[in-house]
Amino acid sequence: MATPLFQAPKGTRDVLAPESERQRALIACFAERAIGAGFGQVVTPIFEELGVFERIGEATELVSKEMYAFEDKDGRRLALRPELTASVVRAFVQHRPPTPWRAWYEGPQFRYEKPQAGRYRQFTQVGAEILGTDDPHADVEIIALAWRFYEAIGLTRVSLLMNSLGDPTCRPAYLEALSSYLHERSADLTEQSRATLEVNPLRVLDSKRPPDQEIIDAAPSMADHLTDEVAAHFEAVTQGLEALAIPYRLSPRLVRGLDYYQRTTFEFAADALDSAQNAIGGGGRYDGLAEQLGGPPTPGVGFALGVERMLLACDAEGAFTAPDNSPQVFVVDVTGGAEASALADQLRQHGIRADRGFDQRSMKAQMKLADRSGAAWAVLIGDEELAQGVVTLRDLRGDQGQTTIERRALVERLLARPATNGEP
Ligand code: HAM
Repeated sequence: MATPLFQAPKGTRDVLAPESERQRALIACFAERAIGAGFGQVVTPIFEELGVFERIGEATELVSKEMYAFEDKDGRRLALRPELTASVVRAFVQHRPPTPWRAWYEGPQFRYEKPQAGRYRQFTQVGAEILGTDDPHADVEIIALAWRFYEAIGLTRVSLLMNSLGDPTCRPAYLEALSSYLHERSADLTEQSRATLEVNPLRVLDSKRPPDQEIIDAAPSMADHLTDEVAAHFEAVTQGLEALAIPYRLSPRLVRGLDYYQRTTFEFAADALDSAQNAIGGGGRYDGLAEQLGGPPTPGVGFALGVERMLLACDAEGAFTAPDNSPQVFVVDVTGGAEASALADQLRQHGIRADRGFDQRSMKAQMKLADRSGAAWAVLIGDEELAQGVVTLRDLRGDQGQTTIERRALVERLLARPATNGEP
């Protein structure tokens, strides 16, 4: 095929059926579970005022390098959302729903990242947030919702990594200890990490570059700097996970790419994927964010999961295959096409998925289409059938052969007797 004049922009993808159907089914499964756990859907705009996202942290790459920011025709500074937590908290502050407020969401996010397998500039997240409580049981519920969802879609090789990032009472002292430790070793750090150190020492812990590893492994740990209260909160969360038999690993170096986190933070890694794209979800507490966005002090906790990455993990584990949405019936009409219109319409009104041929093509050509469509049955109408008020029903997948039946009995027949592949 010749190179097309236009292609989807770098880092974006077109998703065609059946993969699109698989993606939709995954999101539907998440929605069902979130609703079952008392969450209501929140839908926010795909773009917001830039200031909403600047609260994620000016020192994060997400804000400084990866934002799709632009000015609209009125000179407003806007940005495509790089994530949804800031938007959800903005919506909370604007509408002030009763707390605790449980909200779930799904939709595209935009980050100007270097595209690679599992890392896109437009990608889809599903997520959930609880605002208005700092009860550790809320953290447990949030983590359990994600964990049980992974189970529901058949992922078995998922690791939950847990950490507490402290709060404004204990983090400054930790940052000081970390910063002076890293400055002492800065000559041995990679150049990138030396630059990160000047902006945000915590982010140095996120470096995956081998020369940094030894230094990071020996760095002071946040866990040793938590106040009693924060440590007790974290312990209550981990105990809650244990009570639900949700396995986790403590990961004292786990820092996240967003600056709003306090206390509980977590990440889900798909062990079936390479470490570059194995983060299939993450989240934590962001108790100061509502205030930063001009609202009352309101604790919050939540997560977001990457839909494309979860599907990559499903591919690697042979889980969550695309639903079979092929038509149940393909109508082959060699009398001109009007009968196919009437019959397909009638079948669809009875909830039977029906497709048909166009362009008055030959019987042979239409049968080829019927085969390719994946339909269980072909319904054939020729001049003779038309004159006699009958149709020929042909089993395309099984061994039920071909029968001629009264046209008016067709719907009942299709609803009553399944084809060999179970449909309809
Ligand atoms: P995040 O860790 O930035 O957190 O993103 C969550 C998930 O989105 C990642 O674990 C990954 O699966 C997916 N993801 C991120 N970037 C990309 C990309 N470029 N391409 C494909 N997938 C990607 C957040 O977004 C927070 N808002 C999570 C949260 C909710 N925290 C509290 N509440």
